[in-house]
Amino acid sequence: MLTTEENELLTRVGPGTKMGTVLRQFWIPAVRSALLKAGGSPERVRLLGQDFVAFRAADGRVGFFDEACPHRGVSLSLARNHDCSLQCIYHGWKIDVSGKVVDIPTEPEATRGELIERVKVARYPVREAGTIIWVWLGGSTPGDFPAFAWTDFPEGHVKSQLGIVRTNWLTGLEGQLDSAHVGILHSDWVNREPSNFGNSNIDHTIFDLAPRFEFEEQPYGYREAAIRSMPDGTSYVRVREFCLPWYSYIPQKGGRTAMQLMTMSIPIDDEWAAQWDIRYNLVQPLGHNPMFDYGDPNDGARGIGGIETRFGQDRAKVNGGKWAGFPSVRHEDFAIAMATLGIPDRSREQLSSSDISIVRARRLLLKTAREHVDGNPPPGFERKIDWGSIRSLAEIIPAEVGWRTLPK
Ligand code: FES
Ligand SMILES: [Fe+2]
Repeated sequence: MLTTEENELLTRVGPGTKMGTVLRQFWIPAVRSALLKAGGSPERVRLLGQDFVAFRAADGRVGFFDEACPHRGVSLSLARNHDCSLQCIYHGWKIDVSGKVVDIPTEPEATRGELIERVKVARYPVREAGTIIWVWLGGSTPGDFPAFAWTDFPEGHVKSQLGIVRTNWLTGLEGQLDSAHVGILHSDWVNREPSNFGNSNIDHTIFDLAPRFEFEEQPYGYREAAIRSMPDGTSYVRVREFCLPWYSYIPQKGGRTAMQLMTMSIPIDDEWAAQWDIRYNLVQPLGHNPMFDYGDPNDGARGIGGIETRFGQDRAKVNGGKWAGFPSVRHEDFAIAMATLGIPDRSREQLSSSDISIVRARRLLLKTAREHVDGNPPPGFERKIDWGSIRSLAEIIPAEVGWRTLPK
């Protein structure tokens, strides 16, 4: 449970808000690299309640500006992308990919040079890594880039996709930190036939719906072990990594050579969030995976609808014995994220033991927001972090073996 003030602090992310200010001290995943074609259309991007335009020049470089033309505010998503510049179609103001104004054709020649020098364009540093274009909205010098293991992987070893979901970013994040829901909300996807039981990542969750939790603090967040007792006396341990402010490594079975999964809940504004999945494989290219390869990778939530149509829930399926009645695991997550119908009133929650990870994440985020002083890195981030070593685990181990002894 949070106070109303704490709930407001955590969920409001616009310019000038406390949480918005601290979130801007992290590199932000903005769009998938593949969305921007060299010399192609500029794309609108909304992040933390601000509107931007991103484009790729013919030479491959990416420009990231405020959406509003510096002249009189027309959307630069209508602009022409040529000569490694965006040129507004209204009066032809032309801005090169580095953010420098290079032409103002409607200004008389005598004063044009002076005006060109004077006009400031709001442009933002970008980085392209792990199939994603990341942007720095924190002003001054960009901070430490989270160089996760997958951020410099070759083509095919890493895939990104996202759903644009009508939910607050914190609700989305909480869904991605919630181990207890896996064996319930997603139970339609458990293999129940003895012949294929264990093939799915979540099959063993059904033996124990009330996992015990243990934690290990980390400079970037925490490690969380959700421990379930198996009928034969062993323990099924799912170890997650939460990295501030919006990353969750989702436990996957199969060890280091299997597919790994990380999620991100990126605030678009207070009401919408991009729910990202990053899949990667350390040793081989990723194959087709029906659980993830669905819909448009730039917005897999498109067309899911609203509460009027129960976000696409199929009641006939529910009546026929299915648990949730959605077409995929991700649809289930999207529907749940949207089904709080706005920012939930966290002062009215009645929490249970299984919510302990979410409580911990909220506390950490509150501390981060309160202790952050403008211009400094968020607390914990003053040191160099070994991002590349972070990954999740899902293992069945003898009950007496501690999960902390498992090799990462
Ligand atoms: S509004 Fe863009 S050039 Fe005038
Ligand atoms: Fe889920």
